[in-house]
Amino acid sequence: MKQAALITGGAKRIGKVVALKLAAAGYDIALHYHTSKKEAEETAKEIRALGVDCTLFPSALNNQKDAYALIAQATNTYKHLNVLINSASIFERRSFMETDEAQLEENFAVNFKVPFFLTQAFAKATKEKAHVVNMLDTYILRHNGHYFSYLLSKKTLAEFTKMAARELAPRIHVNAVCIGVTTLSENLDQDFVAQKLKHLPDKKLVKPEEISAAILSLIQSSYLNGQLLFVDSGDHLLP
Ligand SMILES: NC(=O)c1ccc[n+]([C@@H]2O[C@H](COP(=O)([O-])OP(=O)(O)OC[C@H]3O[C@@H](n4cnc5c(N)ncnc54)[C@H](OP(=O)(O)O)[C@@H]3O)[C@@H](O)[C@H]2O)c1
Repeated sequence: MKQAALITGGAKRIGKVVALKLAAAGYDIALHYHTSKKEAEETAKEIRALGVDCTLFPSALNNQKDAYALIAQATNTYKHLNVLINSASIFERRSFMETDEAQLEENFAVNFKVPFFLTQAFAKATKEKAHVVNMLDTYILRHNGHYFSYLLSKKTLAEFTKMAARELAPRIHVNAVCIGVTTLSENLDQDFVAQKLKHLPDKKLVKPEEISAAILSLIQSSYLNGQLLFVDSGDHLLP
């Protein structure tokens, strides 16, 4: 059976690695990007070299209209679209006291509202068994305030994952991966990363390839639903 996956924010970094993993598993790829045109074109080339089809879908994703438009375009191109990976996200360091209304709204728009409406539009547009995977953060279990709006929006997306899983079962399964500190952590305080590495139970940073492998196992399962799968070298076990 032909299968296809839409990956938001798939031009580079983790989204790219997920796209390549799913392509290698035989999925045609609807690759969404926003500003990273050059990287998206390069990723599309790498995907096609794996023997599957790939189409690029550039757009800003900020609201319900953007989300519905992307699903309409992707399902128009790939009638067999059966996977949605919500990877596009913003990540900005700002404390509670520094957060203003615009910043709070932007985080909730990109990190929560867009996955919400992409999932809703995807559920309306598809008819067969399908899967949604949301990208969360291992810190949803904690209450650290350095990235206040980001973390709050990811905590909300975690609750959404479980509520949507229940609502859309049995046809659509909604799961999430909760990602720990990865090897792509150049935007984090490097002292924090070094300390983290020292204390992680598994003593290693998370490789994007481990995240994509976890995502593939979620979408290949017919039993896993409403799961928050921690891909974090044991970080969630720490106090
Ligand atoms: N990296 C980590 O260590 C880590 C840790 C925990 C959780 N995660 C989660 O894992 C996912 C992937 O992480 P990442 O580090 O690869 O993500 P990222 O580089 O921060 O962002 C992924 C993509 O999101 C797109 N994007 C941002 N705002 C957008 C908007 N308004 N409209 C459309 N697209 C937009 C950007 O696309 P363009 O470049 O095309 O503009 C960007 O390349 C995210 O959901 C992230 O929260 C990552």
